[in-house]
Amino acid sequence: MKLFTSLVATVLICSVAFVINAQEKKHTPKHLTMEQKMMMKNMAMKNMDKYMANMEAMTKKLPMALKDSQESTLAMGEKLFNDTKALSTNGQSCASCHPGGGTTGGEAETPMASEATGKPYKLPVPTLVGAAATFPKFKVPNDQVIDLTDMQNNCIMMFMAAQPPAKNSKQARALTAYVSSLSNDDKVSVGKMPEMMMKMMKAKK
Ligand code: HEC
Repeated sequence: MKLFTSLVATVLICSVAFVINAQEKKHTPKHLTMEQKMMMKNMAMKNMDKYMANMEAMTKKLPMALKDSQESTLAMGEKLFNDTKALSTNGQSCASCHPGGGTTGGEAETPMASEATGKPYKLPVPTLVGAAATFPKFKVPNDQVIDLTDMQNNCIMMFMAAQPPAKNSKQARALTAYVSSLSNDDKVSVGKMPEMMMKMMKAKK
């Protein structure tokens, strides 16, 4: 009987400890004890062989060398950038306004009319060197924060009178890769307006 009572007591104490421990874990999910960390490490070690075998199989399945793929995507993007038909119905390519990825320094007419004058609204053409490093940012016509691909699509719709390619299409990805490459050496400055826009805003004030 004595043995039975102490057994019950032990079980009780253990379950209380277990519940407290479980509660503690629930509230501090990121906290791991030394033992738990060691256990995870051991598990990872055990699966390492399997992991390496999987990686090897996957690498063999890749259709082409990654470097080739990056270079051909960039080349395709550059070609699209200079193409007056692929993404355009009015004979304008990206390069018509952003020659060599830069700017003509001029203005482009948008399909939107200015509220003040009733005339088509014009916008200065910014350079694209460093532009990718300023996205994502808020754009008025979209009324939301957009990424670089959305911005390119804005230009295609507004200035090239065409239906933009789907965001995840090979064309959109290639063009985004090319425009991004024009910012390779630039510091990221999310949300920054192009200099020409800032000048225009200042001139208006
Ligand atoms: C008719 C002239 C014109 C054409 C063609 C044109 N753009 Fe633009 N682009 C502009 C103007 C004007 C702006 C500024 C619009 C704005 O900020 O809302 C601009 C802005 C941009 C920006 C954002 C720059 C920044 O710093 O915020 C990117 C990126 C861009 N264009 C890429 C392209 C690409 C890629 C193409 C071809 C698919 C293209 N543009 C075609 C005139 C043009």
